Amino acid sequence: MNSHVSKTRKRVLSGVQPSGNLTIGNYIGALRQWAREQHNFESFFCVVDLHAITVPYDPAELRAKTREVAALYLACGIDPDISTIFVQSHVPAHSELTWLLNCITPLGWLNRMTQFKDKAAKQQADSVGTGLLDYPVLMAADILLYHADAVPVGDDQRQHLELTRDIAQRFNHLFGETFTIPEAMIPLSGGRVMGLDDPTNKMSKSETSSEYHAVYLLDPLDRARKKIMRAVTDSGRDISFNDDPQRAGVNNLLEIYEALTGKTRSEIEAHFATARGYGDLKKEVADVVIAALEPIQQRYREITGEQGYVDSLLAQGAERAAEIARSTLDTVRDRMGFIKTHS
Ligand code: TRP
Repeated sequence: MNSHVSKTRKRVLSGVQPSGNLTIGNYIGALRQWAREQHNFESFFCVVDLHAITVPYDPAELRAKTREVAALYLACGIDPDISTIFVQSHVPAHSELTWLLNCITPLGWLNRMTQFKDKAAKQQADSVGTGLLDYPVLMAADILLYHADAVPVGDDQRQHLELTRDIAQRFNHLFGETFTIPEAMIPLSGGRVMGLDDPTNKMSKSETSSEYHAVYLLDPLDRARKKIMRAVTDSGRDISFNDDPQRAGVNNLLEIYEALTGKTRSEIEAHFATARGYGDLKKEVADVVIAALEPIQQRYREITGEQGYVDSLLAQGAERAAEIARSTLDTVRDRMGFIKTHS
């Protein structure tokens, strides 16, 4: 049966690269939302290891981070009985579809990608790998293989989603209706946690400029507290939500507090109206961050403490994913004119 036809719920797919350290920004903006939404969508969550090799990397670290990200998916509440959790490289269809899509993707489309330009600028021109340019085609393959209807991603991935749609449309036009055209699902608010050291830039799991940039999900709790206490603010003392770039630090702390407590903005401003200064705000933000991290870290220790548990779940996930991916790829090969093997 065509995987297209058997869908009952809308399907979502998203992924995280196994590089850097997952942050509270990844939790608030992505993992926590995915865990909530997994009941409403048929969900696929991928650890995109093939994407992680598009910049210089260390194989031992890739191996460790791949398991770490998968275990953090679980620790943040993604349920392997409800959602499919898998490693991208375990499903070879991702690589194969990338090649096929490469051949219908104009080079000009890839040269325009701002993330490529930014990342390439950080490396010596003669060491930028072809894979870095091709990164968005691999991402398109991830999404199109599963006929995902919606793709929850941060705002920084909007351009890659547009490209995915363009590639899907081009394929459908050239070879007949094959792919679902996916929608980006970008969180409206509370989805964007900013750097603690520089609140005008998004908190990033791979930013190493300062050790006070981000709170990592696996930070020791006293370290997490220290990072919040050191967060850059301003010289004022008014604790209110605002979009003044000068006051972005306080606003960021308030938004973290909002996301983790679920309180309304007016409740929060009333609560902090009697605070003596930003120190009081930071202390309470640190408390709610730690309250969120504690159970995640507890589950993470349980999950990784059981020998082979994560690997066996990933094997099951890969099997489920591969079945759908294989069926899509069979259709694609046929539409593109490849003959079948006869055994
Ligand atoms: N490029 C995405 C990011 O850096 C990760 C990613 C790879 C992804 N494949 C994907 C996200 C497919 C959504 C769907 O955030």
